[in-house]
Amino acid sequence: MPRLHATLTRIKPKLKDRAKPAAGMRLPNRRGLTVNSMLTIFRRIATYSERPPAAIFTTDRFYRKPKPETGPKLSDRHDGNHSGVRFMTEQTALASPNHAVNMPAHVDHAHLVVMDLPMVADWYQKIMGLSVLERSPSGLTLGVGGRPLLTLSTDGKAARASRRAPGLFHNAFLVPDRKELSRWLAHAAHGGVQLTGASDHLVSEAIYLDDPEGNGIEVYRDRSREDWNYQPDGTVEMATLPLDLQRLYDEAPKDEAWSGLSEGTAMGHIHLQVSDIPQADAFFRDVLGLDLMARYPGASFFASGKYHHHVAANVWNSRGAARREPAMSGLADYTIRFAEPGRLQQAVDRLETMEIATTRQGGVVSLVDPWGIGLNLSA
Ligand SMILES: [Fe+2]
Repeated sequence: MPRLHATLTRIKPKLKDRAKPAAGMRLPNRRGLTVNSMLTIFRRIATYSERPPAAIFTTDRFYRKPKPETGPKLSDRHDGNHSGVRFMTEQTALASPNHAVNMPAHVDHAHLVVMDLPMVADWYQKIMGLSVLERSPSGLTLGVGGRPLLTLSTDGKAARASRRAPGLFHNAFLVPDRKELSRWLAHAAHGGVQLTGASDHLVSEAIYLDDPEGNGIEVYRDRSREDWNYQPDGTVEMATLPLDLQRLYDEAPKDEAWSGLSEGTAMGHIHLQVSDIPQADAFFRDVLGLDLMARYPGASFFASGKYHHHVAANVWNSRGAARREPAMSGLADYTIRFAEPGRLQQAVDRLETMEIATTRQGGVVSLVDPWGIGLNLSA
């Protein structure tokens, strides 16, 4: 039985705070249940969140109670017994998630193949607050503020992917600040949405859930970069600590109707299931040119521009799994956009060296990665 990382937290909306849910908000979760009055955090450590096995993160070095999220900003180091660990206590956050996007490389958007396109598309609009930006014969593209984040399509021949298959662990929607995270949490709580986890990662605060077909989702906000703790080797310190959802919920403005994720929301990162970590290191670091920013047991985190991670890859469900089949539900492909064409070309050159086939259409280079996941590279 894996050790659980998050304190079981139940959101208790005050009666006066509970807005009447919008039509269609009380959606059954994938177990066929409906949660009407509370948001239940399922403690499924083995499956969700940026979580490591307990061995590391239950040590005193990592498992500490963060100071309250109120009061003066404290970015100083903790006492001498735990040098190198910072408390993250600032109330204010970054003005915009663009700090994750305006980087040498970032994840532009993802593409999921779903079984029930109308239902899943409706869910992403109502629960995640995405808007339809474009429709095509096979699907539609959703986004925020005109920024495409997620393409959904359907394929009658697609088989439902096994949980062990390489593919998506979660798409991570980065919101501008803690207030926006609290606004989304209140919206989810009032709508009876079932969450799967919630964590304080030191660099960020994250909430996890699944879409109706089991595709993982993270909604998160970043703390200020000046409070991230970079190590001498260039990696950044992350951990998995409990996130006080009740406190976050209580901070949400209660006098505003929720009208979707705010402009500036971005696909901050994508977290993948792969079959082998050394292979992931070789692909994302050595071929695509991303920096290795952190390691957990069974996972690596890669980024450009010293972001905490634009791409994560783990083997928690998929160690040693066979390549993904072409016609499968779930993650079909995703796009990494390079700021400089030269960096794209360097990646293409290394792909050729590795004899990984690519196709080019316009400015987009497409390939299938070592685990059968589609990847588009653009600049
Ligand atoms: Fe994540």
